[in-house]
Amino acid sequence: MDFTSRELKSNELMQAQTQLYMHALSFAESMAIKCVVQLGIPNIIHSHGKPRPLCSLVDALSLPPTKTESLNRLIRLMGYILTATSKILINTTKTASSAVISLIDPFTMSPFYFLSAWFRGSGSTPFEAAHGMTLWNALEQNPEIRKKFHDAMAGDSGLLMSVIVNEGKRVFENLKSLVDVGGGTGATAQALVEAFPNLECMVLDLPNVIANLPGATNIVFIGGDMFDSIPRADAVLMKTILHDWNDMDSVKILKKCREAIPSRQEGGKVIIIDAVMNEDYIENKKEQDSITETQLLLNIAVMGGPGGKERTEKEWEKLCLESDFSGYKIICTLGFRSLIEVYP
Ligand SMILES: C[S@@+](CC[C@H](N)C(=O)[O-])C[C@H]1O[C@@H](n2cnc3c(N)ncnc32)[C@H](O)[C@@H]1O
Repeated sequence: MDFTSRELKSNELMQAQTQLYMHALSFAESMAIKCVVQLGIPNIIHSHGKPRPLCSLVDALSLPPTKTESLNRLIRLMGYILTATSKILINTTKTASSAVISLIDPFTMSPFYFLSAWFRGSGSTPFEAAHGMTLWNALEQNPEIRKKFHDAMAGDSGLLMSVIVNEGKRVFENLKSLVDVGGGTGATAQALVEAFPNLECMVLDLPNVIANLPGATNIVFIGGDMFDSIPRADAVLMKTILHDWNDMDSVKILKKCREAIPSRQEGGKVIIIDAVMNEDYIENKKEQDSITETQLLLNIAVMGGPGGKERTEKEWEKLCLESDFSGYKIICTLGFRSLIEVYP
């Protein structure tokens, strides 16, 4: 009997092995979801309106009949892991999230083969270890992946903003102007101007991102660098921006935001949409729920990609104070992310 089997009862050993296999095989879950989206299964099921037999699904997808049994395996796994999630994979709506799945790709995954080497070395991010440049430079040089990336971001914004314009209405309703810093191709701004017709939005992003974007009513695209300057507005919005950056860079960005807005008395504020990491879990090792688990995984994802970090409330507070803001308020929590107001 070796050390492990002396320490653990048989059922604990089997449970541990099962758990290890589950983690080792979770790549198969990601790849199966990607395959389901690529085959267009959510759309086909949705367009039929009611459950359809497997052979009719094979026909509708134009797959060879020899693939029926394999398709059954895919459908069984999806039935087990996806419930409401399959509805948001239907890609005919603004809230479609299927584009996020297309980011499961060698471009985004290769940095994770460099994680341990990066830990031992001195390079700035695992992404740079894999690609020899920052994520933003790599996206600039690769229009195809850049489109995938921004489609994924737009899908995320479409869904999240459909909730925020209601749950976070009071955050936006008295604003006359807003600049969405790192606002990508404008999906967040589009949702805002539709919900608040008196709001004038500017979208600041890198020149290569906003090049050739058609303007829209109440939306102006501005090519620039948020580390240099941010156009003046009643409020600055940053959705999933600061989690891309380390604390030193985040303080620089926040200081630029502060220069762009009026005083607190005049209604100036910075609006942040990002995760607030569940601290209870970190301190007490509580049972993980799906929100905490998603935040913990995202924290690794942003370490490997842009080289940023997810933050606990204490870390957000520290960042705001170091950037000379007077206070902050977490307005509401939206799944694994929160809407935070920061005051000059
Ligand atoms: C994670 S994406 C978030 C996009 C958008 N806010 C959303 O949530 O859908 C980060 C964005 O920051 C932009 N970005 C990166 N560096 C920037 C810089 N120095 N100045 C302005 N935008 C920048 C990227 O081009 C990208 O659009």
